[in-house]
Amino acid sequence: MKRMFLLLITSFAFLTRCFADEGMWLPHLLQAMNEKQMKKMGMKISAADIYSISKGSLKDAIVSLGGFCTAEVISESGLLLTNHHCGFDAIQNHSSVQNNYIRDGFWAYNKEQELQNPGLFATFIIRIEEVTQDVLKGVTPGMTEKERQSQVDKNIASLKTTLKKETYQDILIRPFFDANKYFCFVTETYRDIRLVGAPPASIGNFGKDTDNWMWPRHTGDFSMFRIYAGKDNKPAPYSPDNVPYKPKKALTISLKGMKEGDFTMVFGFPGRTTEYLHSAAVEQIIRVNDPAKIGIRARALGILDGFMRKDEQIKIQYAAKYAGIENSYKKWKGEVAGLKSTNAVGKKKEKEALFEKIVMAKPEMNMAYMDLLKKLGQAYSDIEPYGYARDYYNEIIPKIELFGIAADMNSLLTAYSKDEASYNKRKTEVLEKLEETFKEYSPVVDEKMFESLMALYVNDQKPENVSPLLLSLLKENGNSFSQLAQNLYAGSSFVSLDKIRSLLNGSAANAVGEIRNDAAVRLYADLLKTYTSSVSPKLNEIQSNINQLQRTYMQAQMDVFSDKVYYPDANSTLRITYGNVKGYKARDAVQYDYYTYLDGVMEKYKPGDYEFDVPKKIIELYAKKDFGPYGLNGRQPVCFIAANHTTGGNSGSPALDAYGNLVGLNFDRVWEGTMSDINYDVSICRNIMVDIRYVLFIIDKFAGARNLIDEMKIAK
Ligand code: ARG
Ligand code: GLU
Repeated sequence: MKRMFLLLITSFAFLTRCFADEGMWLPHLLQAMNEKQMKKMGMKISAADIYSISKGSLKDAIVSLGGFCTAEVISESGLLLTNHHCGFDAIQNHSSVQNNYIRDGFWAYNKEQELQNPGLFATFIIRIEEVTQDVLKGVTPGMTEKERQSQVDKNIASLKTTLKKETYQDILIRPFFDANKYFCFVTETYRDIRLVGAPPASIGNFGKDTDNWMWPRHTGDFSMFRIYAGKDNKPAPYSPDNVPYKPKKALTISLKGMKEGDFTMVFGFPGRTTEYLHSAAVEQIIRVNDPAKIGIRARALGILDGFMRKDEQIKIQYAAKYAGIENSYKKWKGEVAGLKSTNAVGKKKEKEALFEKIVMAKPEMNMAYMDLLKKLGQAYSDIEPYGYARDYYNEIIPKIELFGIAADMNSLLTAYSKDEASYNKRKTEVLEKLEETFKEYSPVVDEKMFESLMALYVNDQKPENVSPLLLSLLKENGNSFSQLAQNLYAGSSFVSLDKIRSLLNGSAANAVGEIRNDAAVRLYADLLKTYTSSVSPKLNEIQSNINQLQRTYMQAQMDVFSDKVYYPDANSTLRITYGNVKGYKARDAVQYDYYTYLDGVMEKYKPGDYEFDVPKKIIELYAKKDFGPYGLNGRQPVCFIAANHTTGGNSGSPALDAYGNLVGLNFDRVWEGTMSDINYDVSICRNIMVDIRYVLFIIDKFAGARNLIDEMKIAK
């Protein structure tokens, strides 16, 4: 027995020997956990240069931008670099027919030209501390998940009042390792963030949906902002009197570029990963959840595409929505393919078998973890139908825009039941919101979407999860979804902004009566009610059981395979990931290089094309090989890939070299490797970065914004 145990341990050590490229590490634990390995892989700086609370370190140059992307400070005057797709909302908001910054780009040639962006913010991490003991005070093993959470919430609330911080700072406490540990983040948030520059979409989003998630890539996916602070350099609300923020640390730029095997790091705010799941969970994603979501999105994309090809206005109105739906659609397809091609489920099962053997061989582990895997497997099989129903609801309902409008109108009923003043306040808000909605709304498209997606909703779901009102309406319409759609959209006042305006401008009593009787409002209410009564209670109950079991399983993996070094799943907190520049073998006979050049942009160039047009100026610069100091042997580098473990939220993250210098900007992953969120595999997982030399080439040679180049610190 003992010998077998030893054998198992050694074979497992071999199996799990910490892969250099995998992991999203906590910056304050680098010294203890990663520094040695990072140096072995080529890093020339120390962990303290990356994270320190006593001196300016690289972490002081990194911000969470708006909570959804990452950006970094690249000058002593608070200049921020992030992706074009991260700044897109701001670029779009400032665009008009006269000043089409999406099409033509935008450059501030002095600070007066920079544009303010209400609502956008940049958050620095000042310090990170473990607070597990305090957060779990009073938590006992016998507690239900709900009791545990309420104790945890209480402890967090009290901690927030006692932890040391300045008045202009905030405290964020988040669970890690499935809530086995808790860390506290002291943060500083700046809310005066101005747009400084963006290339035209034909550079910043070159290749659009066709190239999205793909390598080889040729996108200059960057935009620039500036942080403004009060005169004391502290966070301050927008004011024309604010001044450019003076950072504790600004990144230095290196024009040396990267070679195969070079060490890189990506520093940012990855959103969500689930790397420690049971095989049953992964199997379910492959077989049930991803296909359900992919199928619904394929339908939606087909409908949008049909209209967008025929109608120029619809194409403009729906471009952003189409891109949003397509982004996850394509990622999930890659995820399923990658999970299958790397045999993720089989590998998890192998690991679980080993887990069982080791646990069996140790009485104390046996006590703690007996039947754990079986229970987890059972819980996943319990949740399957509810998870499917959740995916159906979440994927279908928000894509039918009339339901969103109905929900807004419905909120007026709630306000009205309070008092007239609440109603009037809400009325102003709803009207403002709907003004925006209707700019990008076509009832014709929406009606078709309703017809098609409601058919999926009815036909692909168990009867008990389907809204009874929908079924009876369907029956009234001779079981024809198209007839039902026609009648619903013809009968509802809410497909027209004019009708909504005139209704709300009349008496409140009359409006409320109409809203209450509107068929779309009633149908939406019934869909929601069906979901909240037949799906969510059971879904939440099983999910909370899974959470509890998964927390134990996370701890168990750390105990049983204790020679492995563990990183926590991504949860939108600051992480660092590192790996080497390298190509990959995508599939049989297809091997990819790790660098792209402007030559490749010209190869893809299709004059006048929606996705692959190239600005004239670029063509001229290319013809003259006028790359300035940013070219290399007569060629202009554009993008490169490396084995850094990144995910959504890492967009805009700096790619740093062995010295901590800025060499690129992270913006995507390769399609074959999008399963890295669930099962990182160094053979096909690569992140995609735009080379900083391409960014500077565009700013300098294309846009002539020398003012921006001059404030950057470029290593000699
Ligand atoms: N795939 C990247 C990400 O997940 C880029 C998305 C934006 N670009 C696009 N063509 N839709 O966010
Ligand atoms: N484009 C993604 C983002 O917006 C990054 C790509 C990824 O998911 O790795 O964060």
